[in-house]
Amino acid sequence: MSIIVTGSIAWDYLMRFPGYFKDHILPEHVSHLSVSFLVDEKERHRGGCAPNIAYNLALLGNHPKLMGAAGLDFADYQQWLESQGVDTSLTAVYEDEFTATFTVITDQDQNQIASFHSGAMRRARELSFFDLDRQSIDWVIISPNDPQAMIRYAEQCRELGIKYVYDPSQQLARLSADELMRSMEGADVLTVNDYELEMTKKLSGLDEDGLLEHVGALVVTRGSEGASVYTPEGSYHAPAAKARAIVEPTGVGDAFRAGLLTGLSREFDWPTTLRLGNVAAVYVIEQVGTQNHRYTPDEFISRYRQNYGDEPRLVQLFNANKATSQE
Ligand SMILES: Nc1ncnc2c1ncn2[C@@H]1O[C@H](COP(=O)(O)OP(=O)(O)OP(=O)(O)O)[C@@H](O)[C@H]1O
Ligand SMILES: [Mg+2]
Repeated sequence: MSIIVTGSIAWDYLMRFPGYFKDHILPEHVSHLSVSFLVDEKERHRGGCAPNIAYNLALLGNHPKLMGAAGLDFADYQQWLESQGVDTSLTAVYEDEFTATFTVITDQDQNQIASFHSGAMRRARELSFFDLDRQSIDWVIISPNDPQAMIRYAEQCRELGIKYVYDPSQQLARLSADELMRSMEGADVLTVNDYELEMTKKLSGLDEDGLLEHVGALVVTRGSEGASVYTPEGSYHAPAAKARAIVEPTGVGDAFRAGLLTGLSREFDWPTTLRLGNVAAVYVIEQVGTQNHRYTPDEFISRYRQNYGDEPRLVQLFNANKATSQE
């Protein structure tokens, strides 16, 4: 089973300012703003949608291929991903660019000032599915990335007859109606959260049934409510898995997508596929960071069982994947 994950690859820099922005940004002087915040905590986390999804796929026993564009500060990230079971051979490393960087400073009131520098991500459009062996690809996910790259990958997958999940997430906000229609047309699965579903409907002028005339299935995540799927054969809702603690939700959507792709690539029924997404996602909420959680196959299977009852195919799933990754 070969799953290719496309999307942003980024370093996330998180800083904490031990004061209040409002004491330093004076409304009457904002037209000449020059402020510097002395921050007392700084963390660097591995981020980007594509490695987030790929890491979770590896936890679920898959050996996903990461296809993205990174820069000169990617070496230790790449090594770490490989050690976790992510194949980075399709990732282009540009030595004259920085890896995309997300920087955020948070103050004592939880106000945030953030920036995103695309860096090497802009060059994701240079990668092409035409350069790969079509026969070796089972599923592709097109996640937030350089906007041109997302459009091109969708066109290429359609032309080559490769099954793909279209996952516009936060990029929806900057897509035109035409770009959205061009990218999602023919996707086997379109996945969005409930807020993005409303944006998609507004932008396309279509409701759930209308969207199903353009995509094979529509998967909607609904936070603590779980996830739903709409297909021409009917719809189904899977309630969320129970969280043991809610620490930090960033990255839940990406983890869900790993469960979704695992179910799709194994041709599981929709209820099992959505539940896999829900269980994969719940681990992310329980700690800080998007790639800091881990579980063994046995832990995952028992967590699944606690929430949804027995699913014998999960044992086979992990065993079969273990056998393929050792080949
Ligand atoms: N409070 C929660 N308890 C249990 N599961 C949750 C909770 N919040 C989210 N999830 C799980 O994560 C999935 C994705 O959540 P959500 O719909 O919030 O995604 P999102 O808004 O795209 O998140 P992200 O911030 O990663 O973009 C849900 O379908 C659900 O399975
Ligand atoms: Mg999301």
